[in-house]
Amino acid sequence: TIYESAADACTAVSKEIADVIRLKQNKGEYAVLGLATGSTPKKVYQELIRLHRNEGLSFNNVVAFNLDEYYPLQPDALQSYKRFMDENLFDHIDIDKKNCFIPQGDTPQELLKMYCEEYEKKIEAFGGIDIQLLGIGRNGHIGFNEPGSHISSATRLITLDQTTRLDAVNDFSGIAQVPRKAITMGVGTIMKARRIVLLAWGERKAGIIKQAVEGPVTEFVPASYLQGHQNAVIVLDEAAAAEL
Ligand code: GLP
Repeated sequence: TIYESAADACTAVSKEIADVIRLKQNKGEYAVLGLATGSTPKKVYQELIRLHRNEGLSFNNVVAFNLDEYYPLQPDALQSYKRFMDENLFDHIDIDKKNCFIPQGDTPQELLKMYCEEYEKKIEAFGGIDIQLLGIGRNGHIGFNEPGSHISSATRLITLDQTTRLDAVNDFSGIAQVPRKAITMGVGTIMKARRIVLLAWGERKAGIIKQAVEGPVTEFVPASYLQGHQNAVIVLDEAAAAEL
């Protein structure tokens, strides 16, 4: 779906998320959201905060699972996705913080394998993800599933690509400070979501969007796996859609 602007797109996407939350509320059920970080979804979160403040949208039945986190990184570090989510969404809505799950960047190495398995089990225990938000990296990654990620990969520790680390350099004080690894939900975890919404704005993303949407389904462009999902949408502004 192509919108004239990212702002228009974010209004539509936040409305879809709000509809899922309200539908589940009416049934007395949890709404399970899969959430993303990065600059791309920020406006969606701003709009959800506005719906909470001005239109009484409650998040008291919402469970949130974030895609990824740098590793190792303390949860209170300036660059942590934990901090990002608190600052950009969770601190401004009535969600129960006990229902906000983000991979923990300070998990001891020897516990990581078990930790990742438990993350998967927790998602399953809440009935799976109703709607998964995604951004896209310049190399086609979703979450931190870098090129080479298998379609059925699960939550795990991954080594970051150099392009990904370079893109993160502005958030850290230099390339040496950008973590070399991350914990990420797998492509398989993402593909199990009942609805997937991938967002991309700006000309910087146009090339990789063309590959993900019109190119072959390949591990070299993990976002291309979404072509095989029953209920996925790629939401773009005109600049990101320019090469389609
Ligand atoms: C990071 C995140 C991804 C995100 C990507 C794009 O790599 N792990 O989830 O999609 O950045 O970031 P941005 O939205 O700032 O372009």
